[in-house]
Amino acid sequence: MDQHRRDFIKMTGLGLASAALPPVDTAMPLARPASAQLFNMCNYAAPKLETVRIGFIGLGNRGMAAVERMNKIAGVEIKAICDLREGKVNEAIQMVAGHGHKPQGYHTHPEIWKRLCERGDLDLVYIVTPWALHTPMAVFAMNHGKHVCVEVPAAKTIDECWQLVETSEKTRKHCMMTENCCYDFSELLTLNLARQGFFGEITHAEGAYIHNLQEYVFDKERFYQMWELKELSQRTGNLYPTHGLGPICQVMNINRGDAMDYLVSMSNNDFVMADTAKQLAAGDADFKPFVGKPFNGMMNTSTIRTKNGKTIMVQFDVASPRPYSRIQLVSGTQGAALKYPEPARIAKGHEWLSAEAYKALETTHTPPIVKKIGEAAKQVGGHGGMDFLMDWRTIDCLRNGLPLDQDVYDAALWSSVGPLSEWSVAHRSNSIDVPDFTRGSWKTNAPIDISMEKGGTTGVRL
Ligand SMILES: NC(=O)c1ccc[n+]([C@@H]2O[C@H](COP(=O)([O-])OP(=O)(O)OC[C@H]3O[C@@H](n4cnc5c(N)ncnc54)[C@H](O)[C@@H]3O)[C@@H](O)[C@H]2O)c1
Repeated sequence: MDQHRRDFIKMTGLGLASAALPPVDTAMPLARPASAQLFNMCNYAAPKLETVRIGFIGLGNRGMAAVERMNKIAGVEIKAICDLREGKVNEAIQMVAGHGHKPQGYHTHPEIWKRLCERGDLDLVYIVTPWALHTPMAVFAMNHGKHVCVEVPAAKTIDECWQLVETSEKTRKHCMMTENCCYDFSELLTLNLARQGFFGEITHAEGAYIHNLQEYVFDKERFYQMWELKELSQRTGNLYPTHGLGPICQVMNINRGDAMDYLVSMSNNDFVMADTAKQLAAGDADFKPFVGKPFNGMMNTSTIRTKNGKTIMVQFDVASPRPYSRIQLVSGTQGAALKYPEPARIAKGHEWLSAEAYKALETTHTPPIVKKIGEAAKQVGGHGGMDFLMDWRTIDCLRNGLPLDQDVYDAALWSSVGPLSEWSVAHRSNSIDVPDFTRGSWKTNAPIDISMEKGGTTGVRL
């Protein structure tokens, strides 16, 4: 027994009692042992592509909207489209025909997406399927020489996070998780202000995904074969951490000067979903498999400490009847920003600045990307325009040979909070180490470049 543990036992007087307690193992089961980074994908610039040739997999609610947005970006060729459902494939093919795209359709067989990834004439595979398919599809696509955009969360397990990192490093293909909230207007303003030192040193931030989805997850038509209800009935923790985390991690330069160190997570019980499932099952056999399942708690709260001594809090609640919120609190030594409840606010002290003062800051500190493409993005829409800003920026970076704003380490780290929170909740909220997916390069990786001094050459076809 080491001196530290002997001192602890003496100090707490636990003596005999502690002998019966198993030590808390903060190493994540299934976490891969750290080995050397194969290649640093942070700020990696792939060779320029004049035209970005895209194949889409998954054409549900979100995937169809992604096709629609890409259809409005110049320098894009939509060459392949895949979904299990033939009707969705035909709908998407028709939608893009007006802009001269003639994609080949792939459908029906659950692994037909592999034929799409194997094509020799695609640069980017854009994955918008249920969570369990994200990593297998992304890894397969990268191994077949394609850059990847993959919806949130990119991975469900720590092992999957490592698969993404190792495959992206090995193939030198981008693996960007399409965390669209990083491109929302007030998040971009906060990032720009932070870069200019407006908040001083950022010491703490809070994010969340609080969105009452009960109506949707119990709707048989909303999500393909109720995949999201299945997730919520099998796991407990923060299953969807990336919307809350993405923008604040960029503000705090996580993976680029700082790193997550360890995490503590707590969930309350489910007080509604099991009851709803039982009631529905009484009249509809499709809900019978959900009866008696260990549904996720209503609210999960996870806190994370960084290597540089900062803190992050992130919450998840899709069951409570309350207004939507991603919180987006950024707190620094000289000021703070808070997005929700809207309107977004900024403070330099005890009081929030007036609406006029906020407007003035917005005018003087409009981020370069918003100046360039903000109006077009608002016209196209997609969560108020952020989805289009994200897709346009991604295509513009690929066409100009620039690093993407989100790399595979961000995808892995932000997604990893899901399984890490599950572990902590299952272990009485004990702390767990957060893997360093950058394997030490966070110490020297430069923050993302939001100057737009390079690129910006991609047009929009409204
Ligand atoms: N970033 C955001 O704001 C945002 C918003 C909504 C959804 N999402 C994410 O988008 C993803 C899709 O969500 P959704 O709401 O569109 O779900 P959905 O159920 O509407 O769509 C999923 C689609 O995947 C298809 N699919 C399933 N298995 C397949 C397979 N083996 N091969 C080909 N296609 C297959 C289904 O037929 C369906 O059309 C999820 O990961 C979700 O988390 C992100």
